[in-house]
Order: sequence, then structure tokens, then C-alpha cells
Amino acid sequence: MSAEASSRPDKVIIIGGGVIGLSIAWRLAARGVDVDLFEAGRCGAGASHAAAGMLAACAEVEPGEEPLLPLNRASQALWPDFARELEAASGLAVDLRTEGTLVCAFSADDQARLKHHLALQERLGLPVSWLDAVEVRRREPFLNPGVVGGLWSPEDHQVDNRKLAAALHVAAGRAGATIHEDSPVESVVVEDGRARGIVTRGRRIDADVVVLAAGAWSRRIEGLPRAALPPVRPVKGQLVAVQMDPAAPVLSHVTWVPGAYLVPRRDGRLIIGATVEEKGFDTRMTAGGLLALLDAAWRALPVIEELPIAETWAGLRPGSRDDAPILGPGDVAGLVYATGHHRNGILLTPITAAVVADHVLTGQLADVARPFTLARFQARAEVPTEVSS
Ligand code: FAD
Ligand code: GLY
Repeated sequence: MSAEASSRPDKVIIIGGGVIGLSIAWRLAARGVDVDLFEAGRCGAGASHAAAGMLAACAEVEPGEEPLLPLNRASQALWPDFARELEAASGLAVDLRTEGTLVCAFSADDQARLKHHLALQERLGLPVSWLDAVEVRRREPFLNPGVVGGLWSPEDHQVDNRKLAAALHVAAGRAGATIHEDSPVESVVVEDGRARGIVTRGRRIDADVVVLAAGAWSRRIEGLPRAALPPVRPVKGQLVAVQMDPAAPVLSHVTWVPGAYLVPRRDGRLIIGATVEEKGFDTRMTAGGLLALLDAAWRALPVIEELPIAETWAGLRPGSRDDAPILGPGDVAGLVYATGHHRNGILLTPITAAVVADHVLTGQLADVARPFTLARFQARAEVPTEVSS
């Protein structure tokens, strides 16, 4: 008997209808599993709506985050096929754009910082290179003429995350998943150390497996023992979009500039993001946040001065204690984690859906996901914090 046949669950409940929960629902339902997804509000309205949609495994790599790189790169490689398959399954476009990413320097200090970053990226074997000022301006003629050079990251692309969430919603439904909106999960039912189902609006619903994919809210669901709560917190990001003429956009690559990133969309919106703030569940826009974003964008791309503001918004990244996702099993049997994707949840959607669906069906966790189980935090918690003399 195959591993899938031996441990295949009859019924799976997914908590959370962001890109993570929806993509897992799609993949499981397409493989014949009876899936019910419960979303507290409207699907795709959380971080998945707020994001900028960059698939930035190379440009965003940070010192200390090297263990995350294989997962990010594996997901990046899945994106073209994932987008094609999803568009076919849903009949909706997700606008995967493959122009690559520029990271620009406007002073000698910026340049020194970026060349230091380039050295890290090269040590990690990433496909990045340095462009001089002439070449940067050839690619993006409206940038401030003071640009002194930039990093070129040809494999970091972008997708329209709002279209992604909408397409996943349709694809999951078409594959047979039942999606319950306005249905907050109040608690996970745990009996004899095993997740048996959930309670929503006072009603218990049983399942063989419960997948926790509630983004920044993943710690707030009751019923789980304390040690089984994922260490996930909200990390606020504010953004603003200005409206370009879609027929004559003033920027065509995802472009990082000091203090902001700029993401041009097909409909002419130029997304300017994002702040990174520890403000709990507060999603209000602030004058300071908006000022910082517009000032950074205007210094790099002065032509935005004349463009109308299209939208301002803020969202909550699900940040884990080490900024990496929490995937797969924990100590509560039948409970599977898919949360804590922080700044990279759009990038990590294809790989998360694949490894979590496989784990649910076979009990096995792919090698690339093994460093990201909840156990990594529990192991650290066992280290004594006080040393007796
Ligand atoms: P969410 O989309 O937040 O979905 C979680 C869902 O769970 C929500 O819809 C919520 O209503 C629901 N929920 C919560 N509690 C319950 C409950 N009790 N019962 C039922 N449902 C519940 N990532 C990238 O890869 N590239 C980017 O460029 C990028 N930019 C970003 C910019 C900003 C400003 C932000 C905020 C995030 C950005 N991200 C980016 C990160 C990315 O958006 C997230 O990592 C990703 O969307 C997480 O998806 P999710 O499904 O886990 O969470
Ligand atoms: N990855 C971009 C952000 O989180 O703002």
C-alpha cells in the first residue's frame, strides 16, 4: 500500500482563507480530499490583500536567513508552472510579471552597502550582478539622474497577489473544497492529544486533520495547549499606490530604492511599500508612515509628484520568532501548521501548498520543509535561561 493510501484523511479542515489556506485547499481538493475551509471574514482580505506581490528570493535575502534560502528558491522555481496551472484551473489571470528586479543606489554610501549585499548574494550562489548608472537609467529612464548604480536580480519577479487570492478561491471551489466565509474558528477541539475538529459559531465540526493557516491571527485560536501555539505575531506594513498611465508607465521593473520598494502593476498602479512596524493588530495609516514612503519614492522617481494617489492601505505580516514559516506537524496529532510566512508568503505559496498537501496525504514532510517545523522553537525553549553559579 502507498504511503498516501495508508494515512490519507477522509476530511480536512483548514483555518484561514488567505493565499496559504486557499492554496492548500486547492491542492488537497484537487487530489480528491473532502476539504472545508473556514475564513473569519472574506477570503484573501488579510495580508494576502495587503502584500506587494514580489517574489524576491534573491533581492530580499538577509544575513542570518540563509537557512530559508533553499525554501524560497524552491518556491520561486515553482512559480511559472504554478501560475499557469492556477490560471487554467480558475480561468482568472494572476499577472505573473517576469521583468526582474533592480536595487538602486543614489550615493556612495548606498553603493557600498549594496556591494556588501552583492558579496553575500554571490557567496550564496545567487544570480545577481552589478549595473552601472548608465545601464540602470537605460532600463528605468525616469529614475533620478543621481542614481550611481544598482544590483540586478533577473530571477526576482512579481505577481498580483490580489488576483492570486481571487484565483485560488475559485480554483479551490472548482476542485470541490467547501469554503465558509464569515465563519471565524473559535477553537480547535483537542481530545487525547489529537485534533478532532473545530468550533465555529458555537458549532463543532469534526475532521481527521486540521490545518492552521490563520496568518497573523494563528496564536489567537483557543483550544490548543500553550506549547502548540505557533510563535506568530502581526508585523504591520503600510503602503500607498499612485496611478500611472498603463500605456506609458514611468517604471517597469520591481525597483528597490533607499527606504522603499516600487512595484508597477499592469493596470498602471505603482505600489510603494512598505513600513515594518511592531504595532500589534493596529492597521491604521499614519502620517509618518505615508510621508516616509512618498518621500523615499519621490527622491528616487521624482516624476511621481504629478501622479494621483490611487490607494493607501496597511496589512499584517504573520511574523514568526525567526521570520521563517512554520510548516508541517507539531506535538498535537492531526494538527498541521502553515503559518508565519512573514515577508515572503506570496513567494512561498506554491511550495507551502505542495509540501503541506503532501504531508496531509502521506504523513511525510519534504526535506526542504523539515527545518521549518514548530519543533525548532521548542528545542530552543528547553535551553535554560538562567545559569546557577
Ligand atoms: P493572510 O492572508 O493574513 O490570511 C489569514 C486569514 O486567516 C485571514 O483572511 C484571516 O481573516 C483568517 N483568520 C484569522 N483568524 C481566523 C479564525 N479564527 N478563523 C478563521 N479564519 C481566520 N509576501 C511576499 O512574498 N512578497 C511581498 O512582496 C510581500 N509584501 C508584503 C507587504 C506587506 C505590507 C504585508 C503585510 C505582507 C507582505 N507579504 C509579502 C507577506 C504576505 O502577504 C504574507 O506572508 C501572506 O499573505 C500570508 O498569507 P496567509 O494566508 O498566511 O495570511
Ligand atoms: N516582502 C515585502 C514586505 O513584506 O514588505
